[in-house]
Amino acid sequence: MTKLTVFIIFIFFGSIFIVYEGCNKAPKKADIKKESFGTLPNGKRIDIYTLRNKNGLEFKIMNYGGAIVSAKVPDKNGNIADIALGYDSLKGYLKNNPYFGPIVGRYANRIAKGKFTLNGKEYTLATNDGPNHLHGGIKGFDKKVWNAVPEKVKKGVALKLHYLSKDGEEGYPGNLNVTVTYTLTNNNELRIDYSATTDKTTIVNLTNHTYWNLAGKGDILNHKMMINANKFTPVDSTLIPTGELKDVAGTPFDFRKPRTIGSRINENNLQLKYANGGYDLNWVLNKNVPDSLTLAVRVTEPTSGRVLEIWTTEPGIQFYSGNFLNGSIVGKNGHVYRKHDAFVIEAQHFPDSPNHPNFPSVVLRPGEKYRQITIYKFGTIR
Ligand code: BGC
Repeated sequence: MTKLTVFIIFIFFGSIFIVYEGCNKAPKKADIKKESFGTLPNGKRIDIYTLRNKNGLEFKIMNYGGAIVSAKVPDKNGNIADIALGYDSLKGYLKNNPYFGPIVGRYANRIAKGKFTLNGKEYTLATNDGPNHLHGGIKGFDKKVWNAVPEKVKKGVALKLHYLSKDGEEGYPGNLNVTVTYTLTNNNELRIDYSATTDKTTIVNLTNHTYWNLAGKGDILNHKMMINANKFTPVDSTLIPTGELKDVAGTPFDFRKPRTIGSRINENNLQLKYANGGYDLNWVLNKNVPDSLTLAVRVTEPTSGRVLEIWTTEPGIQFYSGNFLNGSIVGKNGHVYRKHDAFVIEAQHFPDSPNHPNFPSVVLRPGEKYRQITIYKFGTIR
């Protein structure tokens, strides 16, 4: 072989290697880009932002409802899957949407009969869930167009969303100025910072409502769940808390030690029945210091090895096991969503808090600032 042939072979294989490496490497730097995601019936354009960190994790978030549309995360072998439920296009979100991924407010979860009293005045909200008010009403924050500003930050990339909820919107008092910032860090965390101020005394309880499936398909019954809570708030048949804080010990709600979601989901238990056969309850998180950022939940999916940890400053989390999904929704990539195909963890104040003086307060007064931090930390185990 001549020197020239050796040189040519070297260049040839070298280039193949470089092309191969180029295909597999995650971007070196975090970045964020904006595209159109369609238009609302009123002609308003909706944008979708792609947030990518330097390890190749990729989240898509739209400014309609501030919803997480996709979450692409590697498994233990580096294979990427989309682990959030949702639709391929805006149309789906407008048609039939059981809160796939959005910011929920002004009050996440239920308020009994849509009624509460503040400073001696009774307020009436829409009842959009049987006799109760759910997730901010008929047109909650999940159905609003948020003003979005992409940002590059030290830790990664961020999307800052803003919405002004007018005095009287959905029956709530006070103009509420809300900012929600999603930050995708280079430590593989999706951090959500919520803040709000008001000009009249009001109530606030904000959360995110992403449906997760750490395998990217199938049901979630084999996912292992740990919930850092000794107590939960039992509910009546309309899913309104009775006011009691009940020990999880000896119940199917004891997730202090990790066990599969499916292990006790079919037990003969009224709380599971009320929720249409599965989990849909608020757990009282163990916290030594109120409002401190602590580990609430750890979920592990054994086949993919994906692990999701949820840390929050909130006193509670709602764990909902997708009991109302029934196979009627065809989501992303033709995926049919069936009962128990996803879990939702909503960091929150307890449901119906305005009507339970023994629950942590959800009242926000002029001059005060509402804050909530929740971090979703993604990892893998072997
Ligand atoms: C509630 C469920 C409800 C679901 C709506 C959850 O936060 O707890 O009861 O059906 O949201 O998709």
